[in-house]
Amino acid sequence: MAKGENVNQHGASMEKLVSLCKSRGFIYPSSEIYGGLSATWDYGPLGVEIKQNIQDAWWKEMVRRHDNIVGLDAAIMMHPRTWEASGHVDNFSDPLVDCKKCKNRFREDTLRKMRLDKDIDDALCPECGGELTEVRQFNLMFATQLGPVKDAGSLVYLRPETAQGIFVNFKNVVNSSRVKIPFGIAQVGKAFRNEITTGNFIFRTCEFEQMEMQYFVRPGSEDLVFEEWKTKRMDWYVDSIGIRSERLRFNEHGPKELAHYAKTAFDIEYNYPFGWQELEGIHSRTDYDLRRHEQFCGKDMSYLDAETNSRYIPYVIETSSGLTRSVLVALMDAYHEEKLDGKGEVRTVLHLHPNIAPVKVAVFPLVKKDGLSEMARRIEEGLREDFATFFDQRGAIGRRYRRMDEIGTPFCVTVDYETMDNRTVTLRLRDSMEQFRISVEGIADSIRRETLSYRRL
Ligand code: GAP
Repeated sequence: MAKGENVNQHGASMEKLVSLCKSRGFIYPSSEIYGGLSATWDYGPLGVEIKQNIQDAWWKEMVRRHDNIVGLDAAIMMHPRTWEASGHVDNFSDPLVDCKKCKNRFREDTLRKMRLDKDIDDALCPECGGELTEVRQFNLMFATQLGPVKDAGSLVYLRPETAQGIFVNFKNVVNSSRVKIPFGIAQVGKAFRNEITTGNFIFRTCEFEQMEMQYFVRPGSEDLVFEEWKTKRMDWYVDSIGIRSERLRFNEHGPKELAHYAKTAFDIEYNYPFGWQELEGIHSRTDYDLRRHEQFCGKDMSYLDAETNSRYIPYVIETSSGLTRSVLVALMDAYHEEKLDGKGEVRTVLHLHPNIAPVKVAVFPLVKKDGLSEMARRIEEGLREDFATFFDQRGAIGRRYRRMDEIGTPFCVTVDYETMDNRTVTLRLRDSMEQFRISVEGIADSIRRETLSYRRL
């Protein structure tokens, strides 16, 4: 796709993005008719498409393109001992303080940072100046009960990460498939955390989705494999999802930031409107998880390596991406307002990679009469099998293009009177707004070609 001109501003303010997401059907506040829950969000008709497309791109990259990575879909509710073994019952907590006056709740580390930033040293509530409680640890796991009787035996947690579903199934996968070390198990699914401070739209929510992969390796090889996965994961965001590389960076965890299971950890960070923050975590987890599960369940978690004729508990490299957070980054990075030459008109456009655009091709008849509408409908129906399509015959053609730009549709096909004569249509590219005349029969190939050669502005 050729590069466009008149580019004057990239990236969205959070307010503009939230407003576009709601008005165009990407993301709505959850249960909004009852006043909503700031901690959760609902994905509308376009939101589910982009989320699914990102998930598909991840699955293709991680599972389909590797003959040594297999998939899994474990249950959200797991045996509670899982979370004792994983360390989440003891360690997965945030330091919390309450205001005795206004009852607001704060993370102590956030409060400390706020005080440092504003150069103040009082220990009072930043909202009302009230007295604060002592710091206490607040576990982020949601607890619920399984079955009709509420007793200690019925306690279960909603999983705070998908990873443990993979660890508890490690032996099942080894025994039921032909995987050999090094190999990976990949999973996409919901995770739940009772975050004290949610916010920044879908950046931090209590219910979210993760795309995680655990890569099991021989002890001693983990540092090399860790570097390989770091590179592969960063490349994926740029090449497959179309995120601008200059908005991404690595950030290594210092000793105090390391999670209880990690030997080394790097985040892939994105430069959000509120600063550099995590998008994905890449962790070297050693044999911590499998060894802990072995201790807690009493079952052997070792692997017999036929190549070296040795038995050991594998080490693990984890790549842990937020699916819902990737949706936010994709939308934010794609949002663009540009002034069109000479007209004073501002075009809002989402420069989404065609791989993840919720609608890939829109088909328009220039006018509704003289058979153009029926012809356009037939073309659109013919493309449905291969692409997410949209048919629109309402309003001026320019307005129809603008509506498609706003939701990131990379290709528009217009049927006009020439189509009736020689079976050609115009193909319009979203980013450059260039138009080409191509044959009806060549539409699908042109879209595929443009998608393969797509380069982000
Ligand atoms: N298994 C390792 C693990 O869960 P993490 O760094 O806690 O690591 C991985 O989480 C990714 O999950 C994050 O990089 C982020 O994209 C996403 N994530 C974590 N907490 C989230 C939340 N409350 N809301 C949205 N996404 C979240």
